[in-house]
Amino acid sequence: MLIKTAEFVKSSEKWQNCPEPNLPEYAFIGRSNVGKSSLINALMNRKDLAKTSQTPGKTQLINHFLVNGEWYLTDLPGYGYARVSKSSRKDFEKLITNYILNRKNLVNLFVLVDSRHSPQKIDLEFIEWCGENSIPFSIVFTKSDKLKPKETATKVEDYKAELLKTWEDLPETYLTSAEKKTGGDEILNFIEKTNDF
Ligand code: GTP
Ligand code: MG
Repeated sequence: MLIKTAEFVKSSEKWQNCPEPNLPEYAFIGRSNVGKSSLINALMNRKDLAKTSQTPGKTQLINHFLVNGEWYLTDLPGYGYARVSKSSRKDFEKLITNYILNRKNLVNLFVLVDSRHSPQKIDLEFIEWCGENSIPFSIVFTKSDKLKPKETATKVEDYKAELLKTWEDLPETYLTSAEKKTGGDEILNFIEKTNDF
């Protein structure tokens, strides 16, 4: 898919304030610092459309971007950020789960996990929750440039093996690097395929 235009629409602090759900929507979620905003920038071929930071917890609101005037791309706050109080972490979780459960135009959720890491409890629990709630999702392994290709491949295979302990089938998976701008075309192809333009 050719990205002709990508524009920031608005930041919302709850799903009720999000733009009218009148266009297909694709959202990016995952732990703080996993690379959601960076991947969005890479997909859109823009440096600073979504704000990124080395410090986890940068994205704290639901950010909507309009792509080609035809579909919404959504940057969600990261979950599991340790350095905030328990109550504000709970508020974040509620914000995210309410958004996912109530957003009628959400076509697919891209769940990002760091390709360097072994499966983390919080991600597995989140993926489980998506399954229980019949949320359509894919898994995106990020930061694939950080390890040697062979090491990354092993990590990804181990991750899939872990998922197959509880899932009969694997969801779609993608391997990406925002740094090297790889893996994005597959995601955009998927969006093009699943989107009624
Ligand atoms: P929150 O908004 O805090 O939840 O984080 P986020 O998931 O949006 O992460 P963000 O895109 O801000 O990236 C976090 C850090 O990881 C930044 O320092 C990025 O430069 C770095 N990063 C993200 N993607 C990649 C990648 O593919 N490769 C490398 N090497 N670094 C990356
Ligand atoms: Mg972010």
